Amino acid sequence: MEKIWKSDWTELNREHQVKPVIAVDGTLASGKGTISRRLAKHYGYAYLDTGLLYRVIAHKGLNLAVVCHLSMEDLMGYVMDTPEKELRSDEVGQKASLLALQTHIRDRLNKLQRKFARNPGEEYRGAVLDGRDIGTVVAPNANCKLFVTASPEIRTQRRFQSLQQINPRITYEEVYENLIKRDRQDSSRPVAPLVFTDDYTLIDTTNSTIEESLKEAIDACAAKIATFENSCIPVRSRRLELPRSFPHSDLNAMRLPVPPRPQRLIK
Ligand code: DC
Repeated sequence: MEKIWKSDWTELNREHQVKPVIAVDGTLASGKGTISRRLAKHYGYAYLDTGLLYRVIAHKGLNLAVVCHLSMEDLMGYVMDTPEKELRSDEVGQKASLLALQTHIRDRLNKLQRKFARNPGEEYRGAVLDGRDIGTVVAPNANCKLFVTASPEIRTQRRFQSLQQINPRITYEEVYENLIKRDRQDSSRPVAPLVFTDDYTLIDTTNSTIEESLKEAIDACAAKIATFENSCIPVRSRRLELPRSFPHSDLNAMRLPVPPRPQRLIK
C-alpha cells in the first residue's frame, strides 16, 4: 500500500506540483515545530504540524470508520476545540505514538497530508509539514528535507520546563523516561519509522539558539527552493510555449503509436 502511495506522489509531483514542499522530521522536543513554523513564516508557506492529527484522533478516541470520513478541516476543527494543554500533554503524545502503529489510520492521514502539501492554499507559496515520516513516506519528493534533533538531556530539559507549567508535580526523571520510550517507539516501529537518510540535512539544536537553527534550515533550503521555482513552469503555460510554426508532421512523429487492442479469444 505504502508503495502505491509513493508512486502516486511521484506522479503528482512531476505533473502537478507547482509549489515547493519542505519536509521536517525529527525527534520529540527537538525544536522541529518551532523551526518549521518559523520557516513557513519566512517563506510565506502554509504549515502543518502532522503530530497534531495523530494526537487529536488519539485524544478523541476516534476509530477508523470515523477517521475515514473526516476531512482535514474536520480534524483541524477538533484541534481548535481541544485545549492545547490537553492535546500537547505527554499522555496524549504516548497514545498518539501507539495509534500511529495502525496502518489504515496512517493511510488515511497520509492522503490528507499529501492533499495539503499539493494544495496549501492560494495565499501560500508552498508548504512545510513536520512529523516523523514526511520526507520518507508522505512526501518523499519534497524539495528540501530537514532532520531536527538534539541530545536527550537537552530535549528533556526543554520538555520538562514546558510540561511543568501544565503539571507542577511532574519530575525530570519521568519526562526523560517518556522521551526515551517515545523515541524508541517512533523509530523502531515496522511502519513508517522515524529514520535519518542521506537526503536529509541534519539540524542538531543541542547547542544552538532558535535563530541559529532557523538560519541553518534556511541555508539548507534556499538553493533547492530557488532551483525548483526557476524550473517550475505551470502546466497550462507550458503548452503555449510551442512555437507557432511547429510543423504538424513533427508533432505526429512525436506521438506514441497506439498499442493494438487485445484480441478476444474466440473458442
Ligand atoms: O510530533 P508529536 O509529538 O506531536 O507526535 C505525536 C506522535 O504522533 C508521535 O510520537 C508519533 C506520531 N506521529 C507519526 O507517527 N507520524 C507523524 N508524521 C507525526 C506524528
